[in-house]
Amino acid sequence: MQALVEDMKKAQVFIKEEEIQAIVNGLGFRIQQDYQNIEEPLIVVGLLKGSFIFMADLVRQINLPMNLEFMTVSSYNLENKQEKELKIIQDINTPIAGRDVILVEDIMDTGRTFSKILDLLSSRNPKSLKTCALLNKKECRVAEVTLDYCGIEIPNKFVYGYGLDNSQLGRNLPYIAFEE
Ligand code: IMP
Ligand code: MG
Repeated sequence: MQALVEDMKKAQVFIKEEEIQAIVNGLGFRIQQDYQNIEEPLIVVGLLKGSFIFMADLVRQINLPMNLEFMTVSSYNLENKQEKELKIIQDINTPIAGRDVILVEDIMDTGRTFSKILDLLSSRNPKSLKTCALLNKKECRVAEVTLDYCGIEIPNKFVYGYGLDNSQLGRNLPYIAFEE
């Protein structure tokens, strides 16, 4: 743990706070435009823990009625990227049938998390279901998933900060970092 803390002191800034804010503002603007004629409140579902900071900033850029929901899912081992059964640790507790839903993630990597949660949520018959991620590692995609609202495409490097963790550390950084 101490070694990791030391390593993180050498972290490089990859995406600055102001750049993140500009990206998030752009996403919020697009979502607001797309849903301006919505009849019932939009349901925005964030995947914990990674999306919590992004989600908090994003929804404050959208001036529409909305319900906020969170789901906690277990993820696979990033080192070997082996597929493991995705476990829902905490589900949303609002019915989504007939409602417009946006699923929000910090980062889309292989796409497996999105794909599985999308299957689960679609089985509940929402009126519409879209995806939003701040970061997109497009070259790592394994599962076929449409990313409707993509913040920024990044190369295949491990990043953390702004909600994303490095072995559960670094989520509180206001910028996105990477290690050389
Ligand atoms: P996917 O199912 O492979 O698309 O993985 C998505 C999840 O893996 C994300 O929600 C993150 O929790 C995690 N992840 C993928 N890449 C990174 C990274 O570079 N830094 C931190 N977490 C990551
Ligand atoms: Mg995550």
